[in-house]
Amino acid sequence: MLMDPKLTGYLQRALNHEMAAVQQYFTQSALCELWGLDDAAAKFQHESVEELEHAKRLTRHLLTLGIVPNGAQLPAVPPVRSLRDMLLADWQLEADAIRLYSDASQYCARVHKEAAYHLFDGLLQEEREHLQDVESWLDDLAVAESQQKGASRV
Ligand SMILES: [Fe+2]
Ligand SMILES: [Fe+2]
Repeated sequence: MLMDPKLTGYLQRALNHEMAAVQQYFTQSALCELWGLDDAAAKFQHESVEELEHAKRLTRHLLTLGIVPNGAQLPAVPPVRSLRDMLLADWQLEADAIRLYSDASQYCARVHKEAAYHLFDGLLQEEREHLQDVESWLDDLAVAESQQKGASRV
């Protein structure tokens, strides 16, 4: 099978992204446990497992191409002081994933790499759902915060 360095680059970048996402969500889950936010900790834990599953799918594809996964150093998890900070960092993370998978799937469609196209397009749809989840959680948080402010004024 002929190697396509551009496709390999997308796959390795995607794997790096997913491993960074696992680390980010996993860290947020642990931090929420320390803060006593058990529901949020469970949600972040669930997200980290989904991102790990994405990493596994990418790894499987790399292996079928005869390529050994070669992750670079992971970026530092963004520093946060609140649940809102975490969700804003996650919004950026998911938006980056959408941009990456959108570029990668368009490239694969153009060069007729069917299997890779389906892999990237599937991931793109799931990252869009992740972004929507983050947005609705941010909305819920805004409602809860305004209710708290209202209650503290009484
Ligand atoms: Fe992902
Ligand atoms: Fe995601």
